Amino acid sequence: MSNRTFTMIKPDATSKGYTGAILDQIIKAGFTVKAMKWIKLSEEQAGLFYDIHRARPFFGELVDFMSSGPIVAAILEKENAVADFRELIGATNPANAAEGTIRKNFAASIGENAVHGSDSDENAVIEGDFFFSKLERF
Ligand code: CMP
Repeated sequence: MSNRTFTMIKPDATSKGYTGAILDQIIKAGFTVKAMKWIKLSEEQAGLFYDIHRARPFFGELVDFMSSGPIVAAILEKENAVADFRELIGATNPANAAEGTIRKNFAASIGENAVHGSDSDENAVIEGDFFFSKLERF
């Protein structure tokens, strides 16, 4: 089991001014930031990041949304990071997210769901490598 995961605070949350509150909830839950950047993806970059969803009907909407404004990308560390972070953020659709989770607190819809969290240790490495060089993490 790896102790790292990858997250993005998405454009809906950064534009509504939720970045600080979301980071506060993440850090209070015991995660340590190992890398972080404030960045705006191009449509091409958003499409590459979500390449696994290219055949899905919502792919175009997802790419438009994820390239619509700045995001915060980060690598987080904690024991059992992937599973614990997914519990902290709640279900993909905020309508189904548990009380107190980040998506319940800050997300509006399944498309604009405030945060991303890696779904496996393998994807956490791939996604972290997409954004960060060795020099940008510690
Ligand atoms: P995320 O965890 O970042 O990974 C893939 C994203 O696709 C997901 O969050 C949602 O934001 C988005 N997504 C998944 N299902 C749908 C859907 N049915 N309609 C629109 N967006 C979706």
